[in-house]
Amino acid sequence: MTGRAVVVGVGHYLPERVVPNSHFEATLDTTDEWIQSRSGIQRRHFAAEDETTSDLAAHAARAALADAGLQAGDIDAIVLATSTADLTFPSAATMVQAALGMDKGFAFDVQAVCAGFVYALSTANAMILAGQAKRVLVIGAETFSRIMDWTDRSTCVLFGDGAGALVLESQTGAGTSADRGILSTDLNSDGRYKDLLYVDGGVSTQTTGHLRMQGNQVFRHAVEKLASTAETALDKAGLSANDVDWIVPHQANIRIISGTARKMGLSMDHVVVTVQDHGNTSAASIPLALSVGKQRGQINSGDLIVTEAIGGGLAWGAVVLRW
Ligand code: ACO
Repeated sequence: MTGRAVVVGVGHYLPERVVPNSHFEATLDTTDEWIQSRSGIQRRHFAAEDETTSDLAAHAARAALADAGLQAGDIDAIVLATSTADLTFPSAATMVQAALGMDKGFAFDVQAVCAGFVYALSTANAMILAGQAKRVLVIGAETFSRIMDWTDRSTCVLFGDGAGALVLESQTGAGTSADRGILSTDLNSDGRYKDLLYVDGGVSTQTTGHLRMQGNQVFRHAVEKLASTAETALDKAGLSANDVDWIVPHQANIRIISGTARKMGLSMDHVVVTVQDHGNTSAASIPLALSVGKQRGQINSGDLIVTEAIGGGLAWGAVVLRW
């Protein structure tokens, strides 16, 4: 018998405003055709002016709690992955805690850019296995529209806003790979690549800054590192790609998503894809895809899922879980 962190609820929230690729044709030297063929993105959501990351996160958290049939008071901790928190401090997670009316437990943010949700899941899993918390809300939420340089066509067409959330619950498993819940995690970072993807501002510089990316360089690292971390995580769980029902990847670019699946020897029939509708929502993209995948009827109880992501740092990783 062994402890397992099992998903008992999932939910998401997308801001009302949908922005199609054609929106950018008016102000930039770009086309819907270029954006779709290079990234797979057709549209994305942008938060309203008065909508913050913690607002998006709270909506997604309520949806996940409702899906789990739980109340905020049943939760011991909130781990929120974001690089676009409302304020420098306090954490967006404590704002969600207050918004949910949760007056016990603890809440904090995790920042690993697009790999943030994988890092947050891994952190929550460790806390559950250590007995620090019985139920944890794990949220990915972003307003990347706030850090775009709207004159930079190579970045501003790629990102969107949104939030997704899971409720993880401590349960007892048999200790085999047939157990439901998180079966393994694999985290990596390499700060030598910090200049490939960063925001050129922050608290110490007293500016918010804008996202800067050497997209083709990141691309070069992405497929190899994502397939490698997914295979390492599967190996740690005593499983292989043949056992996978669904890859639920970070949704940055359809060419990275399909290249990673191909490298793992899996067809696109085994991949949940939402990039066409959401764009790259950074730490929110995996929980958004899990929630949409469940709504579509793709993801069902007992399915073996691999999530994988890479982002600024570079930071990358994977989590293997049975739904
Ligand atoms: N419209 C038209 N042309 C454009 C646009 C645009 N929106 N953007 C760039 N171009 C041009 C470039 O200027 C370049 O022109 P040039 O050849 O005259 O210099 C040409 O298109 C090719 O540019 P590349 O950057 O080489 O294009 P690529 O095929 O690599 O696609 C993309 C770009 C979509 C950014 C891709 O590299 C990518 O997805 N990279 C990975 C992004 C990623 O996964 N990031 C990690 C997560 S994000 C995070 O952590 C925050």
